[in-house]
Amino acid sequence: MATSITDLLLLGRGVDLASERGVSCPGELPAVSDPNLVERARAARKALGSRAFVLGHHYQRDEVIAFADVMGDSFKLAKDAAARPEAEFIIFCGVHFMAESADILTSASQKVILPDLAAGCSMADMANSEQVAQCWDALTAAGVADQTIPVTYMNSSAAIKAFTGEHGGTVCTSSNAKTAMAWALEKGEKVLFLPDQHLGRNTAVLQLGLSLDDCAVWNPWKENGGLTDAQITRARILLWRGHCSVHGRFTVDSVNEVRARIPGVKVLVHPECQYEVVSAADVVGSTESIIKTVAQSPAGSKWAVGTELNLVRRLATDNPDKEIVFLDKTVCYCSTMNRIDLPHLVWVMESLVQGRLLNQITVDPKIAKYAKIALDQMLALP
Ligand code: 13P
Ligand code: SF4
Repeated sequence: MATSITDLLLLGRGVDLASERGVSCPGELPAVSDPNLVERARAARKALGSRAFVLGHHYQRDEVIAFADVMGDSFKLAKDAAARPEAEFIIFCGVHFMAESADILTSASQKVILPDLAAGCSMADMANSEQVAQCWDALTAAGVADQTIPVTYMNSSAAIKAFTGEHGGTVCTSSNAKTAMAWALEKGEKVLFLPDQHLGRNTAVLQLGLSLDDCAVWNPWKENGGLTDAQITRARILLWRGHCSVHGRFTVDSVNEVRARIPGVKVLVHPECQYEVVSAADVVGSTESIIKTVAQSPAGSKWAVGTELNLVRRLATDNPDKEIVFLDKTVCYCSTMNRIDLPHLVWVMESLVQGRLLNQITVDPKIAKYAKIALDQMLALP
């Protein structure tokens, strides 16, 4: 896709891109106020039957999750999508990079659909191919590229995953970042971790026991990443300067405040939070592991959870015997995850029933070939 999701949002054109690319958008997007939305969704889902498989990320709205055949973190959903060869349509209720990965991991005859094309990920947009190629050129000039293994977080475009596959690296998710980084450090002397500096730092320092001094931040907006060749040579982990705009907002103050307000509370955060926040927390884990940790805790447990709001609300509903609070009242939903709502889901499902395929996500075969190498490497990690 030539235009990034950030570009789309900045330009405020949303799904209009589809018509610009010559894709017509027939049919009407149902109104949010339509009282028959749930009925319409049920009828369309029933009509599609086993031809469709609906995946829902944990950050999706409840109204969407109600129609998901499976729910999961990005690792589980990638595996689930790959395990449904009989489904003609994979409806991905998540964000763009997840739908791209599903397209790469499914067969050529399967069609992956993202109900709203403007559902991107601001972190994934923080690394583009040109910037990564410039970084690699600088590592080559510094004489370290041949000892460096790229590790790309799932939250990246297919093109970045392809770069990783082409250079002997792997994709990782928040649930296997430790294994992926340890694998890369056995294979080479350095790791280029992108695009989330926080997940990279938390994994290197808090999970693998490296020091903060072993890490250097590569700033794609500065000459030579803002580093000297000596700093590049010395670093074991080069962290791309990207972050999640939702998780990056939790602070150590919010951790201290909740501990003072709720005695006995345990703080549970996603590893996309800043290093200081993760260091101060009691438990860190992917969305799937956050859910398991709370579910397995005894009745009466108190948890302050630092991740996206739809998931925290669902945790509170699903665990009425526990006290679940949001870690910081000022942090809100992931606005791009939230773009997928029931009207968009109804729109794409009803269109499929009528024989019209909307919002298909396809990855260029040349990119898909190398991106699949990196994704398969991730799936083969121990
Ligand atoms: P998970 O891999 O934990 O599902 O996280 C994906 C994500 O986008 C978190 O912000
Ligand atoms: Fe991207 Fe952050 Fe939203 Fe996850 S929560 S999809 S990393 S912007």
